[in-house]
Amino acid sequence: MTISKNLNSKSPIAFFDSGVGGLTVFSKVKRLLPNEDLVYYGDTLHMPYGEKSKADLLKYSNNIFKFFEDLGCKAVVMACNTTSSVVYREVVDRYKFELYPIVQSVSEILSSLPITRLGVFATRATIESNAYQNEITKYNSDMCVFGQFCPSWVHIVENNLINNEESIKLIKSDLDKMLDNSPEKIVLGCTHYPFLIDILSKFVEKDLFIDPAEDFAKFIVNDLKTKQLLNKNTDLGKDSFYVSSNPDGFIGNAKLFYNVTVRPQIITFE
Ligand code: DGL
Repeated sequence: MTISKNLNSKSPIAFFDSGVGGLTVFSKVKRLLPNEDLVYYGDTLHMPYGEKSKADLLKYSNNIFKFFEDLGCKAVVMACNTTSSVVYREVVDRYKFELYPIVQSVSEILSSLPITRLGVFATRATIESNAYQNEITKYNSDMCVFGQFCPSWVHIVENNLINNEESIKLIKSDLDKMLDNSPEKIVLGCTHYPFLIDILSKFVEKDLFIDPAEDFAKFIVNDLKTKQLLNKNTDLGKDSFYVSSNPDGFIGNAKLFYNVTVRPQIITFE
């Protein structure tokens, strides 16, 4: 059953992910819509989402959605490939806001790339769900989409280990495995992975990689515009940040993508 939404264009747009990864999307939307109020929830207590079961991901997502609904948000951005891949179908149409899942929102654009071999780097849960393959081949059945999960990458980003020698070795070895399959482009299908782009591009051309955040942000803006949900207010919007643990770690790790100037509040649900 679809819920009647009756949304207010002045209400905030909310984002969530397991930690800082979703800021890769948040920062792009912020640049396109500086006058919107934005809310971000980083579920730092439960990361990495990529290693969690579907039941757990559903529980975390529903708790966060209820919180966003209570804040009166007009839109919620699933700035997390893992929850978009695993639980989107279960949660769509259950809440009183517009819902934007990253994988489903960017797949049509990815399907129109003039290539036949597309690699996807993502978490274990995203790869095992086959969501990118299933969504992209709905639009282009000639494209061969193959995925590989990178077990340590989220840990590297969330623990400030990006320039550590051991991390660089692990990243290079995952990259080499992917390159054995001759991808013409590689989607960074986890919002944490763009934090590693400088390391990845030490070994291959940077433009081999696609960070879907830019196209996703444009998709969200266009859709809100079509639904007449953009805030017409011209004052600068306000940011609010929430985490489920470790606000200082969040501020520190966020730096590559966003300068978090307001201290995140800790909110936990269970
Ligand atoms: N950044 C998320 C994603 O896009 C989740 C990473 C994780 O916590 O495993 O999939």
